[in-house]
Amino acid sequence: MTTAVDTLRRTAEPVPALRAARGAVLKDVEQAVATLLEGERARWKADAPQALPLIGGIADLVAAGGKRLRPAFCVSGFLAAGGSAGEPGLVDLAAALEMLHVFALIHDDVIDEADTRRGRPALHIAQARAHGAAGWRGDSARFGESAAILAGDLALTYADQLLAGAAAPVREEWSRLCSEMIVGQFLDVSVAAEYNADPEVSRWVAVCKSGRYSIHRPLHIGALLAGRTDLEAGFEAYGRALGEAFQLRDDLIDAFGDAETAGKPTGLDFAQHKMTLLLALAVQRDERVRALVLPRSGGTDGADADELRALLIDSGVRAEVEARVDHLVAEAIGALEHAPLDDAWRQELSAMAYEVAYRSR
Ligand code: IPE
Ligand code: IPE
Ligand code: MG
Ligand code: MG
Ligand code: MG
Repeated sequence: MTTAVDTLRRTAEPVPALRAARGAVLKDVEQAVATLLEGERARWKADAPQALPLIGGIADLVAAGGKRLRPAFCVSGFLAAGGSAGEPGLVDLAAALEMLHVFALIHDDVIDEADTRRGRPALHIAQARAHGAAGWRGDSARFGESAAILAGDLALTYADQLLAGAAAPVREEWSRLCSEMIVGQFLDVSVAAEYNADPEVSRWVAVCKSGRYSIHRPLHIGALLAGRTDLEAGFEAYGRALGEAFQLRDDLIDAFGDAETAGKPTGLDFAQHKMTLLLALAVQRDERVRALVLPRSGGTDGADADELRALLIDSGVRAEVEARVDHLVAEAIGALEHAPLDDAWRQELSAMAYEVAYRSR
């Protein structure tokens, strides 16, 4: 059986010169985000210092790190399309993608009742604790969630602000990217509520809530900024396959990974009865899984999660999802073959595919 450790060993060589070129732009992206947040801090410090924790919460989440995948794919799409690194809109576009992601994460942690993110308390938890510590009135948890709704909205507004100068094709793609992710997030919770064990639906939700805004559309929006439309089919095929692999790995990390390494809780998908591909396959295939999860309406408790984990391994479902990741990586890399790209970019995007699909956080 293929184990996660075996798969993590697989790799493709990155292209140092392309990595350096991308890295230089990404440094400016960090700066652009920091400058925007500093400006906002300065503005509110004078007008309403009470607002500073809201902006501080966003800044803390950015400062906590993260892989910066969406900016990386956007800048890669742009450079692979032959765009010149001096293009003024590139840094702001990549920064907007990270701000959009920050918005998604803040709201996602409220939706999923996740207490940590990027190794720190989730924004709603930090705000609830601050409310409690200050001895303020009202319910601390409710306050924390209110603050998180607003911090998320604010991050989305900052993303739009960064995008202000973008041309129509970029804005149209941006709109698709945002609405797909938000609708995908709703599908995630509604399919969980319905407890509809259909592997095709699970795969579609993974692509819609995560794959598209993380890989496919960032790559394509970068190419559009460079004025190229002929890369659309290749990036779509690569991004569709790798986007699904990205989310399947996220689901595998939730089910079998380590919370400390991931910087976020694990086991939450079971607790929230999320109909990931793992669970949909297991419910379809394994009588024991059906007996364990289907009669319940309130999700699974800790003991059930251990049992479920063991059943996912025993029934071969974990291995099957790992095999699907392998297949998707091969498909993504295969899609680059006929795309109008330089060989060096083909290699770099292949290396990125391995990194995304076989990550541990
Ligand atoms: C987490 O995204 C949310 C999903 C879409 C699965 P990442 O795994 O890219 O999180 P960060 O940005 O590295 O923290
Ligand atoms: C979140 O998916 C997707 C978005 C943030 C849009 P998950 O809920 O699986 O992401 P994590 O595991 O909390 O990072
Ligand atoms: Mg989540
Ligand atoms: Mg979620
Ligand atoms: Mg997850």
